[in-house]
Amino acid sequence: MFQDVIVAALFRTFHARVDDALLDCAARDAGALSAIGRLSLLSDAMAAQAVATLRLEANEALLDLGCGRGFLARWLRHAGVVADYVGVDRIPEALGAARAMLAGDPRARFVEGDYRTYRAAPVDAVAALEVTGDGALDAPLLDAIGANLKPGGRFVLTVAALDDRNAPPRAEANAVLRARFERSEIADATPEAAEFAQRFYDAMLAIDAWEPSIAPRIAAQASQVRDAIAAGSFAYAIVTGTR
Ligand SMILES: C[S@@+](CC[C@H](N)C(=O)[O-])C[C@H]1O[C@@H](n2cnc3c(N)ncnc32)[C@H](O)[C@@H]1O
Repeated sequence: MFQDVIVAALFRTFHARVDDALLDCAARDAGALSAIGRLSLLSDAMAAQAVATLRLEANEALLDLGCGRGFLARWLRHAGVVADYVGVDRIPEALGAARAMLAGDPRARFVEGDYRTYRAAPVDAVAALEVTGDGALDAPLLDAIGANLKPGGRFVLTVAALDDRNAPPRAEANAVLRARFERSEIADATPEAAEFAQRFYDAMLAIDAWEPSIAPRIAAQASQVRDAIAAGSFAYAIVTGTR
């Protein structure tokens, strides 16, 4: 619990000081033609694939757990997907940025909350893009996905691991998913995510206009990810399924 409080506080400082225009530049310079800033290692192609797996029909309701600064809401707008979108995050500064970026879009709402307790009217689809960072399939996140989905609703969950030894073996992960969902599938997206991560952190580090107090944090994160890729311990999974 203590560690959780520290991590959330670090995130708040970052979210309060990071500049979205620079995040957009980094995405573009990393090769993302959408030029939509993100706090994840999803390339544009991976984001398109993640959204496609949700098979969203017009006016369906989508819940984005751990929405950060509104990457997925911006992506849906970019892709012309018309959904009733609700993004949930526990960091108010991230939500402030997301609301500012999606201002004028009556279909996008952002709510402060913790996915461990957030429960609302069940929706057609749930996304959770890189909300947990250690590669483990977080049971409270899976519970939140299940509890917030209508029967037959679809979900996509992406998980990055810097040390793939933290990730459960595939058979164990499948058993965990089978216990909660009607159907599920784990796709290994490690090569695509590693390639985008390299380009993304090159672009992030090439920017010299970050607010000075967050620049060391970006540099530390870049070296952690690059070291993991070089050591062959980086892994990335895209988990999809139906409740
Ligand atoms: C790596 S960022 C990814 C953000 C966004 N999905 C994206 O792709 O840009 C992880 C986000 O999950 C949020 N998060 C982590 N734990 C959470 C929790 N228990 N409840 C709600 N949000 C959480 C963080 O605040 C952060 O904004």
